[in-house]
Amino acid sequence: MSRLRVYRDDTRPDVFDEYSTFETIRDAAAEAKIRFERWDASRVLAPDASQDEVLAAYADSIRKLERECGFGTADVVSVNPGTPNHAEMRKKFLDEHTHSEDEARFFVEGSGLFCIHYEHAVYALECTKGDLINVVAGTRHWFDMGPVPRFTAIRLFTDPKGWVANFTGSDVAGRFPRYTRV
Ligand SMILES: [Fe+2]
Repeated sequence: MSRLRVYRDDTRPDVFDEYSTFETIRDAAAEAKIRFERWDASRVLAPDASQDEVLAAYADSIRKLERECGFGTADVVSVNPGTPNHAEMRKKFLDEHTHSEDEARFFVEGSGLFCIHYEHAVYALECTKGDLINVVAGTRHWFDMGPVPRFTAIRLFTDPKGWVANFTGSDVAGRFPRYTRV
């Protein structure tokens, strides 16, 4: 199940508001301009499905998202405990950063933790299969796939060339719980 915890960014991270139903997560996330939706992720994929196979399985959803949101391209990121460099991949986005493009992800398998730092709050949103999240361009955030990663997500871009992490230099990400899948 998906879950959202909202912390203040200047207090101990054991105090938070928690949301665990779709509607409450969607509404609380919207306060931070995070778009959160549920999409059909019921296609059966082989564990070793290629990027093209994943894109083909969800071609209808992708086309709809491109039409509705102006995304121009899509690709697939898929990480599991057997992915050789997953520890380095995890580290890459663990610190607070922004992008000049939106960061949109449609989770078709597994889960991961998006943390969005908006004004004086940290929105820690565990995304699971069927979740679509869009973090608006310029929003401070980080992403944790966890020490034992397991997810496949379709990434949607308006312009993939603009999708570069600009690190803020803040240590805020290290003050909040990292992702441990239960
Ligand atoms: Fe990011």
